[in-house]
Parts: sequence; C-alpha cells; structure tokens
Amino acid sequence: MDRFLTSDDLAKALRADVRDGLTSTPKALPPKWFYDERGSGLFEEITRLDEYYPTRREREILTARAPEIAAATGARTLLELGAGSGEKTRLLLDALSGTLRTYVPVDVSGDFLEEAAAGIAADHPGLTVRAVVADYEQHLHLLPDGERRLVAFLGGTIGNMPPAKRVGFLAALRATMSGQDALLLGADLVKDEKRLVAAYDDAAGVTAEFNRNVLAVINRELDADFVPAAFEHVALWNAEEEWIEMRLRSTRDQTVHVRGLDLEVRFAEGEEMRTEISAKFRRERLESELAAAGLELSRFWTDGAGDFSLSLARPVA
Ligand code: SAH
Ligand code: AVI
Repeated sequence: MDRFLTSDDLAKALRADVRDGLTSTPKALPPKWFYDERGSGLFEEITRLDEYYPTRREREILTARAPEIAAATGARTLLELGAGSGEKTRLLLDALSGTLRTYVPVDVSGDFLEEAAAGIAADHPGLTVRAVVADYEQHLHLLPDGERRLVAFLGGTIGNMPPAKRVGFLAALRATMSGQDALLLGADLVKDEKRLVAAYDDAAGVTAEFNRNVLAVINRELDADFVPAAFEHVALWNAEEEWIEMRLRSTRDQTVHVRGLDLEVRFAEGEEMRTEISAKFRRERLESELAAAGLELSRFWTDGAGDFSLSLARPVA
C-alpha cells in the first residue's frame, strides 16, 4: 500500500479543519472526518438501508452497463477515488477483466482501504492491486500514471464537495488525464424531497450515528469532550442549492473542550453545525461542470427509476 498521507499529515489536517470549523460562524466540519474504521462501517450499513437508494441504483446501472463501459474504455488501469469497500467496483473489475492489469483504490480511510483491497486482490489473482492512502483533494497529481486509465468516482461522493471545490477538483483531475483516459462519475439526481430527506434521516438512526461519529473522532484524536448524545441529527433539503445538508444541533447550552487544540467552544441550545452537503444533480449541470473542467460527456446512464446517474466523460482534445 502507498501512503501519500501519513498519520502525521492526517493529524495535522484534522487539527486545522477542526480549529477552522469550530471557530467560524456558523460552525462547520468537512465530511472527510466521518470515515474512521467505525464511520466507514456505518457508511456500509447506510448503503444497505431501505431508505438509502443511491448504492442500489448505482449498482443497477453498473450491472447493466459495465460491459459497455469496458468496451468503450478498454481500460488497463482502474483508479478509484474514495473507493471505500469497492463492493460495486467488482462489477467493473469483472467486465474489464480482458484488458485490466491494475486496480488502484484511493481513500483517506487507510485501515478500511487495506482490508477492502486485500479482499479484492484475493478474489482477482493476476490483477495488480495497489491501494493508495491519499486525499483526492490534494494528491491527484501524485497518483500512479498508466496507460488507458479509467478514473472511477462512484457513489455520488462528488456531491459532498461544495460547487467551487468541485470545479477545482474536476479541473485538477482533467490535468492528470491523457487523451485515452476516461472518467466514470456517479452522481445522485434531484428528486422528491421526502425521499431525499428519508435517505439521510433513516428510521433506524444509522445515519444519525454516522453523523455523530465525527464527534467521536474529534474526541479520540484531539482529546475533546464532546457528548455525542447532546447533539441531534438534522437532515434537510436546501431547495435553492439543490443539496441535502446534514447538521448536528446542540440540544443545550454547552461548552466543549478540545484539549489537543487548547480550544474551548461554546454551543448555544439549538445551534446547528453543518457536517456535510450532498448535492443532487441534473444532467445539464453535470454536463456543464464537466465541460468547464475540459471534460466532455460521452455517455450518460440512469437506473430504470431515474434516481441516480453514471456519466462517462473524456478529456476534450
Ligand atoms: N465509493 C464508495 C464509498 C463512498 S463513501 C461507494 O460508492 O459506496 C466515501 C468514501 O470517500 C469513503 O470511503 C471516504 O473515506 C472517502 N473519502 C472522503 N473524502 C475523501 C478525500 N478527501 N480523499 C480520499 N478519500 C475520501
Ligand atoms: C459518500 N456520500 C456520497 C454519501 C452521500 O450520500 O452523500 C455520504 C452519506 N452521508 C449520509 N449518508 C450517506
């Protein structure tokens, strides 16, 4: 496994994000810190919930389209950003088995990535699996090069970046791509508000646990004393921005000590701290954001219900 992020780098980045986020108004934390071993496990649980349709819908598209994706790309290297368990990726690996030589799953969540990559390597003898612990917001230029690369960014994770970051990210990705490379991008689509909110506020409370897990991460890593039970999970649809927002709402006036940062943070009763956005797209927006980054949409697929999308894009010559 390659590491572009040592535990020192991660600790430094967490410190900076937590200090910025807890001292700004309104308070906010970036979603990347949900994913320690427990958070990654909770996300896997979310993907199996009735209310959380994106994973099932994307799997449906991949099942139907993987052979077309393989034929269109003839990929020799599959580089997957934010790979997580790589469970859906197995559909691509199977379809690409004729041409694919190397699979490069990239994730910030090192332990989880190592386990997932080992499982995939064991099931695909002959495939070189080279897991990389990296932050795709910083390290795209360091990722392994290769001939005929297919870069997969699945799950709708692109929607977890705010629009300005998304544009910069896509442009940086385009800059690493050569003419024979392609991008396979999963993106969730705008739909009925009730279904959207239910997907982020499930009846069993798994998403609420996932949301509060960021507090447990800060407690452990920065010696803080957040009481997770004193924060309520909030999921709401921002119709203007067309994104879901997850927040944590303080149930009382409270002061939190982040000893690792020598920081004292006050929360008023009812104060909300944003922990994630999850943007939902329309085809036109995807197409124009890709174009702005120098990428041309060559195929666009949805599942039968039109809930989720998978785009194949190529660098504009
Ligand atoms: N692609 C998988 C997992 C999605 S969950 C799926 O479709 O089911 C999002 C994944 O992105 C997590 O595994 C998380 O650890 C990873 N991640 C989040 N922010 C990241 C970043 N900045 N750099 C690298 N990986 C990141
Ligand atoms: C990883 N990402 C696409 C998920 C999403 O749907 O935005 C993270 C998530 N947050 C709450 N539930 C799932």
